[in-house]
Amino acid sequence: MRILIRPLLGQAHVSLILFTTFALAALHNVTVDDSVLTGTVVPQYLPSASAWNQGNTCQGCAAQPDPAMAYNGTWHDASYSLLSGPFLSFEFSFAGTALYLYFILANAPNFLLLTATTSVNVTVDGVTFPPFVHFPTPGAGYQYNVPVFAAESLASGTHTVTLQPIVPTSAPTDSVLMLFDYLIYS
Ligand SMILES: *[C@@H]1O[C@H](CO)[C@@H](O)[C@H](O)[C@H]1NC(C)=O
Ligand SMILES: *[C@@H]1O[C@H](CO)[C@@H](O)[C@H](O)[C@H]1NC(C)=O
Ligand SMILES: *[C@@H]1O[C@H](CO)[C@@H](O)[C@H](O)[C@H]1NC(C)=O
Repeated sequence: MRILIRPLLGQAHVSLILFTTFALAALHNVTVDDSVLTGTVVPQYLPSASAWNQGNTCQGCAAQPDPAMAYNGTWHDASYSLLSGPFLSFEFSFAGTALYLYFILANAPNFLLLTATTSVNVTVDGVTFPPFVHFPTPGAGYQYNVPVFAAESLASGTHTVTLQPIVPTSAPTDSVLMLFDYLIYS
């Protein structure tokens, strides 16, 4: 009996290792650039695409980060304040269990203090996550590849994501700057 059981247990152990390895390998990251126009995941800029600027070609934009530091050399630029509006957002859907959104952050003095605040809320399938808030640091330059949102244990399946500016209640006259560079989903 012993001789029979041992090889069976050995085989079960090997298949469990193979299965676990396969399951981990199946989870892979996909990067989506802000400027992508076709594909599985395409950000929709609202209220219209023209309400957002393609930041890297925007002469009139106050924020001028280094394109060489941005993913694929591109980013989207938009500002929102309670006085100026219009209300801006972007939306997309993806299938997966993890999501990361990357922004470029501005600071002073290469940007005005009151217009370099980055503050955003992300909603996944109708559930709003705690906001990301960055107030500019005097003396600092731009910051690249900053995750303004990360969720790693979403249910598997398709998710609808909305990102919107949220003016901090502590700074109601600030203009909120959004420099969206890319997203990663798994
Ligand atoms: C996907 O990217 C995130 C952020 O860079 C990283 O933390 C994570 O480990 C990556 N996951 C995989 C499966 O490569
Ligand atoms: C890089 O940007 C160009 C547009 O400038 C776009 O056509 C291309 O799909 C982007 N590449 C990646 C890998 O996102
Ligand atoms: C942003 O997120 C915070 C924290 O979850 C929430 O209290 C607030 O109502 C949200 N704001 C909007 C406009 O959804």
